[in-house]
Amino acid sequence: MSEDFYSKRRSIVARKMSPEPIKESDLNQIIQAGIRVPDHGALNPWKLIIIQGEQLATIDKEIILKEYIKKNPNSDKKFQEIESKRLQRAGAVIAVLSSPVDHPSIPLWEMQLSSGAVCMNLLSCAQSLGYAAQWLTEWYSYNDTMLAYLGGRVGIDKISGFIYIGHKTEEPNERKRPNPADVINYL
Ligand SMILES: Cc1cc2nc3c(=O)[nH]c(=O)nc-3n(C[C@H](O)[C@H](O)[C@H](O)COP(=O)(O)O)c2cc1C
Repeated sequence: MSEDFYSKRRSIVARKMSPEPIKESDLNQIIQAGIRVPDHGALNPWKLIIIQGEQLATIDKEIILKEYIKKNPNSDKKFQEIESKRLQRAGAVIAVLSSPVDHPSIPLWEMQLSSGAVCMNLLSCAQSLGYAAQWLTEWYSYNDTMLAYLGGRVGIDKISGFIYIGHKTEEPNERKRPNPADVINYL
């Protein structure tokens, strides 16, 4: 990993990734990095669901497309086509669930933040290994059928994101970054 990895790191949008499978040893390394996050009280209030191979197409067809058509019965075929291939844009997708536990003093907010940290570690690790990767929620992260399919508890757990991992087809352009003066204050 280069010295300036964190100051240069960039996501690559899912539609620009190439979806060949991800090397097993790399995927394992990414997963291990994902679960090595700050976690107040070591509660492990998150779950990772690894989706690859035929499972990508199965979820696209059985969950994403079906739910989309249920909600948009008169939608154009061209939009249905997009929905039918969402996860198949990647070689592997890691769904991260925020799965909080009851705790007398550690707030829910902190457990949810830790789940975001899992997403960021997965993303950074994948990018540090040279993969194209993106953190997406899109509409289906807010769909209860999807949540239940992934093993989540509807009404309690939330989908923090889907980490798409694929192969680079080109180097990304830089995107608009915040003006440091607008967001950083020194006291
Ligand atoms: C929680 C979360 C959800 C996101 N969901 C989407 C999304 O649904 N669609 C989208 O185009 N970008 C989404 N993004 C933004 C992309 O990940 C985007 O590529 C990213 O902001 C680029 O940042 P980077 O180059 O610094 O990694 C999301 C980001 C976060 C943190």
